[in-house]
Amino acid sequence: MAAAESHPTPETSVIAIDGPAASGKSTVARALASRLGYRFLNSGDLYRAMTWHCLHHGVDCQDSGAVASAAGQARVEIGCDGADYYPLIDGGDPRAHLRSEAINSCVSPVSAVPAVRYILSAAIRAHAQGRRTVVEGRDIGSAVFPETPYKFYIDAPPQVRQRRRRNQGQVEEIARRDLIDSTRSTDPLTVAPGATVIDSSTLDIQGVVAAMLDKLAGQGLGCAIAACSSNG
Ligand code: DC
Repeated sequence: MAAAESHPTPETSVIAIDGPAASGKSTVARALASRLGYRFLNSGDLYRAMTWHCLHHGVDCQDSGAVASAAGQARVEIGCDGADYYPLIDGGDPRAHLRSEAINSCVSPVSAVPAVRYILSAAIRAHAQGRRTVVEGRDIGSAVFPETPYKFYIDAPPQVRQRRRRNQGQVEEIARRDLIDSTRSTDPLTVAPGATVIDSSTLDIQGVVAAMLDKLAGQGLGCAIAACSSNG
């Protein structure tokens, strides 16, 4: 049976992939979605879009009250471009701005504001629930879709992740973001119960995706996986 013909229930249609910054999760999540015929939602882009919204309106990202108020006034929507979901804020498409240095440095404090998490988690749930979607982020398996049996945590040592960002020509303080993301009070970065942990520093992208496909096949996404694997 082809991937599109399998019949996941609303609870099992989401594959959750979490991990720290620069762990490689976006690349493997998109590759996995493509192999399975699933859609791909990068939830970090929603947090980046909300950060862009705050900066655009002159909000101090360290002022959690002001951030919560700006977030509450934003109209958050999710558009679809091919197999990729992307954020829209007040009808605008902020994708061109999401990797700027300003957003890299402000996104973790903005993401730590509970009102921001509440709004964006609800948007992610409303959009991906019941649709075959690979969703990647920090709290997808632990807080947004805790009921899905398909959970992965992609990791790599901090020095490997910092080097990856440098090689991509990006300036990012990985250690600072790790600290804020994993110690915030609401839905911190954590390995969700039942998640399969994969170290991406010892495998290439194809190797990580192959490990995920193996695990999913063992969990009963067998029809879809068999079709995908035989297609190479
Ligand atoms: O994956 P990324 O580096 O683009 O994510 C940017 C920030 O967004 C990250 O520092 C923490 C936040 N984030 C989050 O808090 N929860 C998510 N589900 C996804 C991202």
